[in-house]
Amino acid sequence: MSGKVALVTGSGRGIGLAATRRFLAEGWRVALLDIDGELLGHAMAELARPEETLALHCDVADVAGVQAAVRRAAAHFGRLDALVNNAGTAVFKPILDTTPEEWARVLAVNLTGPFLATQAAAPIMAETGGGAVVNITSISGLRASTLRVAYGTSKAGLAHLTKQQAVELAALGIRVNAVAPGPVDTAMAKAVHTPEIRRDYHDTIPLNRYGLETELAEAIFFLCSDRASYLTGQVIAVDGGFDATGIGLPTLRAERRNL
Ligand SMILES: NC(=O)c1ccc[n+]([C@@H]2O[C@H](COP(=O)([O-])OP(=O)(O)OC[C@H]3O[C@@H](n4cnc5c(N)ncnc54)[C@H](O)[C@@H]3O)[C@@H](O)[C@H]2O)c1
Repeated sequence: MSGKVALVTGSGRGIGLAATRRFLAEGWRVALLDIDGELLGHAMAELARPEETLALHCDVADVAGVQAAVRRAAAHFGRLDALVNNAGTAVFKPILDTTPEEWARVLAVNLTGPFLATQAAAPIMAETGGGAVVNITSISGLRASTLRVAYGTSKAGLAHLTKQQAVELAALGIRVNAVAPGPVDTAMAKAVHTPEIRRDYHDTIPLNRYGLETELAEAIFFLCSDRASYLTGQVIAVDGGFDATGIGLPTLRAERRNL
């Protein structure tokens, strides 16, 4: 048992739930935070680890709610060593159709949420000598693409917030990094990726496939572990090579097939 404690936001399903499983497998205890009480209930029942887990029903964009949830996790487990700001929401629409309300909500959840949760968690982490924060951004925050004006901008903001936090919180012994997932076959991706978009992704990803939730969980856990003790202020793309590519991949593949 490591005795360490992580709080993972958006852990009712998807990447957050996979990260939760990874922490538990390494002997950590985990506070699961999610806006969807039903998903949270299912996740808790599936994990069936009542001693090592705690469910926190909360919206990461709600200032008082986040502060209370972080305090509750620390009081329940007696410490806090890692925070994974994973909760996220996506509205994929053309710029001219995106409403001010949609813009504000995406920014509130994806950018303000991690700011609030980290602000609440940092003093608690500092009490036991520090810890690690991992913000889940996106390749949509590294490269612009269609329909992602609010989502991509929120994630690019989160990448910069990661650096701001890394610079200031180092003095408290807290490392802050980001993981930028490429497309991962979660419920979120299924909801927003049409068959045409899926084909476009395959065309543009050198490894020629979507990522797995477990592959994201691995990077998240590594960044929270002591093995990453000299790593802070970085955005690591776990994306099958998407961020590295320019044009030409489909043509190269076609030429190879014709050899
Ligand atoms: N799946 C992908 O292809 C992909 C790609 C790049 C980045 N990401 C990012 O990874 C993270 C996880 O994505 P996922 O695919 O697992 O998504 P998902 O939709 O499967 O899971 C997200 C979880 O966050 C919760 N959540 C949403 N809004 C919340 C809020 N305001 N407060 C608390 N909880 C909230 C949801 O209820 C859900 O349980 C997100 O930040 C997402 O933007 C995902």
